[in-house]
Amino acid sequence: MTKQYRVALIPGDGIGPEVVAEGVKVLKEIEKVDSTVSFSFTEFPWGCEYYLENGKMMDDNALEQLKDYDAIYLGAVGYPGVPDHISLRDLLIKIRKGFDQYVNLRPVTLLHPELTPLKSKAEKDIDMLVIRENSEGEYAGAGEWLFKDKPEEVVLQTGVFSRKGTERIIRHAYEEARKTNRTLTSISKGNALNYSMVFWDQIFEEVGKEYPDVQTYSYLVDAASLYFVSQPERFEVVVTSNLFGDIVTDIGAAITGGLGLATGANINPEKKYPSMFEPVHGSAPDIAGKGVANPIAAIWSVSQMLDFFEMEEWGEAVLTTIKKIIKEGTYLTPDLGGNASTEELGNRFVELLLLENS
Ligand SMILES: NC(=O)c1ccc[n+]([C@@H]2O[C@H](COP(=O)([O-])OP(=O)(O)OC[C@H]3O[C@@H](n4cnc5c(N)ncnc54)[C@H](O)[C@@H]3O)[C@@H](O)[C@H]2O)c1
Repeated sequence: MTKQYRVALIPGDGIGPEVVAEGVKVLKEIEKVDSTVSFSFTEFPWGCEYYLENGKMMDDNALEQLKDYDAIYLGAVGYPGVPDHISLRDLLIKIRKGFDQYVNLRPVTLLHPELTPLKSKAEKDIDMLVIRENSEGEYAGAGEWLFKDKPEEVVLQTGVFSRKGTERIIRHAYEEARKTNRTLTSISKGNALNYSMVFWDQIFEEVGKEYPDVQTYSYLVDAASLYFVSQPERFEVVVTSNLFGDIVTDIGAAITGGLGLATGANINPEKKYPSMFEPVHGSAPDIAGKGVANPIAAIWSVSQMLDFFEMEEWGEAVLTTIKKIIKEGTYLTPDLGGNASTEELGNRFVELLLLENS
């Protein structure tokens, strides 16, 4: 029997459409050789161009339009001319929050030794999964702007850490560590953030009582940032807040080959709503339209999507092919020192994938 998956595409702005096209190519090739699966795609034109024409980043009933898809595949949003807080909050964060995609899975994995700028670190040293809280925390959007443009102007940006929200992300991370027999590290900042992060640390300990078999560590975010660079081998599964997760995974990208290789899945584990798969990078206006964007991060998102669809063999095959194309070294984009175009890399990718898997 053929399993059918409906995928909503939001290619977005800048290099978003360029890299999403290559990810879709991979899914289309898979359905050609695997008769047990088929994908259908519906493209939505939302993003900054849409904003400039319509005064909004997406339709008012966007969530209603998206809610019955099995997954959302997003490129990137944001472009000069539209304030970043509008493009981010009115599209990405609206979807993440509206669909309760409270788990952000960001693997930080070195795929080839030459990709890291760290001396003497090999693949075995950099292989972690960062689980970032994705629905509240510092990005909850709570606050106030008082006395705007007056000398007494004050802005308040409030972090929101609910018991439900904190417990569920921490429990998800413990489950992942237990399932994969890895250590779990919590990253927080209890010494300075005397409400939110003291609470976070308390919940980490409380929930941990149910997982005596999981070896845990707890670091302040400043020390953790240092260790990401100096001793990344300390980390296996990591759980952290929305803001800290955003920042440390950029460090993760820097030590594993750059933003062109960093992926992230926004998951609603209960599958009540669709989950969303996207590269970590933005719309890269500096290279948009030149056909040189690296599509590997977006292709890795496809691997995460296949895992989520419980097609782990294909998910693994896509990841293995990413390693192969990097090792082969002849079809890489300029950010990785090559001179291939986005499309050439994508074409070679499907060739290599099918060579082993058809
Ligand atoms: N998830 C998202 O949609 C998302 C994430 C980050 C930034 N943004 C938005 O994107 C816009 C640009 O932001 P930015 O410049 O800070 O970050 P960016 O990630 O777009 O670019 C940072 C640098 O990395 C390079 N880069 C990024 N992705 C690449 C790829 N696939 N291949 C090769 N090089 C790549 C860019 O050329 C640039 O030099 C802003 O409007 C920002 O708000 C969106």
